[in-house]
Amino acid sequence: MVRETNLRVEDLIYPLFVMEGEGKQEEVASMPGCYRYTLDLLLKEVEEADNLGLGAIALFPLIPYHQKDNAGTESYHPNGLIPRAVRAIKQAVPDLVVITDVALDPYSSEGHDGIVRDGKILNDETVAVLVKQALIQAEAGADFVAPSDMMDGRIGAIRQALDAAGWIDVGILAYSAKYASAYYGPFRDALDSAPKFGDKKTYQMDAANATEAIKEVALDIAEGADIVMVKPALAYLDIICRLKHHVNVPIAAYNVSGEYAMIKAAGERGWIDEKKVILETLTSIKRAGADLILTYFAKEVALMLQILQARSTP
Ligand code: PBG
Repeated sequence: MVRETNLRVEDLIYPLFVMEGEGKQEEVASMPGCYRYTLDLLLKEVEEADNLGLGAIALFPLIPYHQKDNAGTESYHPNGLIPRAVRAIKQAVPDLVVITDVALDPYSSEGHDGIVRDGKILNDETVAVLVKQALIQAEAGADFVAPSDMMDGRIGAIRQALDAAGWIDVGILAYSAKYASAYYGPFRDALDSAPKFGDKKTYQMDAANATEAIKEVALDIAEGADIVMVKPALAYLDIICRLKHHVNVPIAAYNVSGEYAMIKAAGERGWIDEKKVILETLTSIKRAGADLILTYFAKEVALMLQILQARSTP
């Protein structure tokens, strides 16, 4: 009765990895319980997510190396893996919210979120490609496009292009305060997308900065973001909390791959009570001020919440 924070299934967004092929699912070595699915098996997972009442799914592609190049050309192929996946999902479960990732890294031979020249990321040239990628995703039926690249000016450019093409109802979930984080390691294993040189510190944020997050978020909202995101979540709960007092749009937080892997690893060894730690962790993210949580635990938590609910209703 006096509880201040409640986890709800509809606040959870389930990130999913999709790959080419048929009838296969491969467990990500550093993310036990998470798989890359071929499209046919992905649909089953998505139907389960829908039946559990999860808020949305977020899609990420594993792109074969021969389709990668420096300009991320495959990212805006009209019949690429992601547009095909979105169309299939929208046909199978039309009401489930589908969020697509806008960034070049899964498609980049350099493993970077932008086009590289002489060891530098070309901001504006990259934005032009991101716009094409977002348009293809909208056309395929994505409800939200989610730029995770951290280029400057991309939210405004994407909003303008979507509106001009008539996709006025497609929302933008902006990865606004995205930190250059070592917690993304397992995700890069999943997609084989680790940077081939250097790091992402010229476009993602420094872990030491908080005021900058407020600036990044303000820019994205001014440019048209409908939801802003803080990523990772746990080492940045203070950022979520500060933003809560500054913004008038929903805040999402990404409980990232490294955070998932740590809980799984300790749980497997019996060093922590995994289920309790998951609920406590996600509750802390909501308590900090997040409205929505992207988490690889989404399905597990939905099941736990169902059981808890059943227990409390006589
Ligand atoms: C890249 C992207 C990353 C994640 C989501 N989109 C990794 C990165 O920036 O290198 C990480 C998610 C996770 O670790 O769970 N556009």
